Amino acid sequence: MPAIVIVGAQWGDEGKGKATDLIGDDVDYVVRYQGGNNAGHTVVIGAESYALHLLPAGVLSSKATPVIGNGVVIDPAVLIEEIDGLESRGVSCDRLLISANAHLIMPYHIALDKVTERYLGSSRIGTTGRGIGPTYSDKAARVGIRMQDLLDPGILCQKLELVLREKNQVLTKVYNRRGIDAKATAKEYLAHFERLQRYVADTGLVLSKALDQGEVVLLEGAQATQLDVDHGTYPFVTSSSPTAGGACAGSGVGPTRITKVIGVVKAYTTRVGAGPFPTELTGEQGQWLRKTGMEYGVTTGRPRRTGWFDAVIARYATRVNGITDYFLSKLDVLSGLERVPVCVAYDVNGTRHDEIPMTQTDFHHAVPVYEYLDGWREDISAAREFGDLPPNAQAYVRSLEDMIGAPLCGIGVGPRRDQTLRLRPLA
Ligand code: GDP
Ligand code: IMO
Ligand code: MG
Repeated sequence: MPAIVIVGAQWGDEGKGKATDLIGDDVDYVVRYQGGNNAGHTVVIGAESYALHLLPAGVLSSKATPVIGNGVVIDPAVLIEEIDGLESRGVSCDRLLISANAHLIMPYHIALDKVTERYLGSSRIGTTGRGIGPTYSDKAARVGIRMQDLLDPGILCQKLELVLREKNQVLTKVYNRRGIDAKATAKEYLAHFERLQRYVADTGLVLSKALDQGEVVLLEGAQATQLDVDHGTYPFVTSSSPTAGGACAGSGVGPTRITKVIGVVKAYTTRVGAGPFPTELTGEQGQWLRKTGMEYGVTTGRPRRTGWFDAVIARYATRVNGITDYFLSKLDVLSGLERVPVCVAYDVNGTRHDEIPMTQTDFHHAVPVYEYLDGWREDISAAREFGDLPPNAQAYVRSLEDMIGAPLCGIGVGPRRDQTLRLRPLA
């Protein structure tokens, strides 16, 4: 009966992949509901490390059926490469289902993503350059190409010719780029479809029937709350809805089916790309966090911006997602600090804000108000139960729990599956 949502509480890379993988064996379906190959989810199983971009982390579970929902945007070449890469390592993708309604990232989306970023200059978003924004723009403008369009080559060519009439004008006349040929693009995508057709399904219907039969569906968000196009630090966001509300629109599962929303939150904060980040550390401490936490992007390899834990951001995530449980990741990274600063509010031009300021201008001027919690020196990566943590680490965790307003169900003390403290059942 129940559907469970997993959502990132900060600016992405919280460890959603690991958290999803941990629950994978206890659920029947794992569904990606938005985003595309801008996501990078690392899952470490024993000595093996897997970097997933489009496939839900449930693909690594022996039980769950992985589903790419209608809200995802798909670059077929990337998806085929990912499937081939996993199968060559002995991971079967046979059960994969792909929504017929998912939109396709086309070559002109990737070209436009890169060129518009260049034109924005110092105002650029710092996108992953994978064509995500332009694909969602076309979806909203009702000129997108969907997976099901590949079933009918005639329709595909018609749609492509129509859309390229405008895109090629923009590419050649505004941006001085080469135009894209409709026929060659159709041929390329139809060839990809030969590989992907077997996975295409009415996934909303499949999930609904599964829920009716008492099966458990996990809805896996990519990106995170602060990158949500409505609820994030707009315009420095992605172009979809990673927040829990987006899980319904992006999967076809109705809201009354959702019984649990798990927020994944890192014991400190990171961000890739431009935009406000009040607790950012630009000096030595920031470098220490980056090095110790190995904070480099899975998708683009970019160094992540780093900073202390921001309880205002996390409380906001609890509110907009209706988070019922938190998974706290990367606690092990903070070992060795004498004191651990935690941002509990902001000072904006002399006024204390306990919530994110209403306007972007105020948020840009937010200065963190810190509380300092006692640190711990011990390496905690071998801890397996809450009681194994040093008293100060326990106190740090309990303080965060109080500040963010939802109980923890698990704590990560390392990248591997076994480096997890389970406090409550995850599924
Ligand atoms: P996602 O995008 O939210 O899935 O997160 P990423 O995979 O991009 O980034 C999280 C990184 O931290 C990955 O390299 C994980 O293997 C790693 N990781 C996850 N949980 C933990 C943890 O508890 N401790 C440590 N040290 N690393 C972790
Ligand atoms: P996961 O799922 C961190 C950021 C980009 C950029 C902004 C818009 O691994 O947490 P886009 O290419 O989506 O138009 O870029 O969003 N971004 C991410 N940052 N983790 C991600 O995914 C991200 N996906 C997009 O860096 O600032
Ligand atoms: Mg990531």
